[in-house]
Amino acid sequence: MVRPAALDDAPAIARVHVASWRTTYRGMLPDDFLASLSAAQYAERWSRVIGEGSSRVYVVEEPEGIVGFASGGRERAGEGGFAGELYAIYVLDGSRRRGHGRELVRAVAEALREMKLPDMIVWVLRDNTDARQFYEHLGGVYVRSQPITIGTATLEEVSYGWQALDEIRY
Ligand SMILES: CC(C)(COP(=O)(O)OP(=O)(O)OC[C@H]1O[C@@H](n2cnc3c(N)ncnc32)[C@H](O)[C@@H]1OP(=O)(O)O)[C@@H](O)C(=O)NCCC(=O)NCCS
Repeated sequence: MVRPAALDDAPAIARVHVASWRTTYRGMLPDDFLASLSAAQYAERWSRVIGEGSSRVYVVEEPEGIVGFASGGRERAGEGGFAGELYAIYVLDGSRRRGHGRELVRAVAEALREMKLPDMIVWVLRDNTDARQFYEHLGGVYVRSQPITIGTATLEEVSYGWQALDEIRY
C-alpha cells in the first residue's frame, strides 16, 4: 500500500496536503490562512520536490486513491545530534488509525537508512496532540521547543527524536 511517489502523484499529494492542513490545523492557524492554501500551488511544489530527489517521498493508497504521504531526508536546520529528518506526514482524516502513518514512517526510515542517515528528528506543532501521541507511540523522545511563524501566526513547535532508526517502535 505504501510506495515511492511518482511525479504524476503530485496533484493527489497536494490535495491530501491541503485537506489535512485544513482539518488538522483548524483552530490552531487562522481560518483565512487555511482557506488560502492552494492545491494547485502545492502540486507544483510537490512536483518539484519529487523531481529533485533530495527528499524521499512516499504515498499510501486505498482503492479510491492516495490517502496519505510522508517525506524525509537530510536534517534541514542544523539541529545538533540529528542527521535525518521526517519532514512531513499527512493522512486524510477518514483514513487515520489504520496503520498508514506507521507504514509511512517505516518507509521514510528505510530511505534514511539507505542515505546513511542514522537517526531521525521531526517537528510538530505543540498543540497538535494527536500527532504528538503518534510520535510518542513510535518511541520518539522529546528534544526541545521553539517558536515558528506560519502565515501571520506565531506558534510553538516541539521536536521528537530517535537517536537510532532501530529505536523506532512500530
Ligand atoms: C499523525 C498521523 C500521520 C498518524 O497517522 P495514522 O495513520 O492515523 O497512524 P497509525 O494508524 O499508524 O497509528 C499508529 C499508532 O500511533 C498512535 N496514534 C496514532 N494517532 C493517534 C491519536 N490521534 N491519538 C493517540 N494515539 C495515536 C496509536 O498508538 C496508533 O496505534 P493504534 O491505532 O493501534 O492504537 C495522522 O493522524 C495525521 O495525518 N494527522 C494529521 C496530520 C498531522 O498532524 N501530521 C503530523 C504533522 S507534524
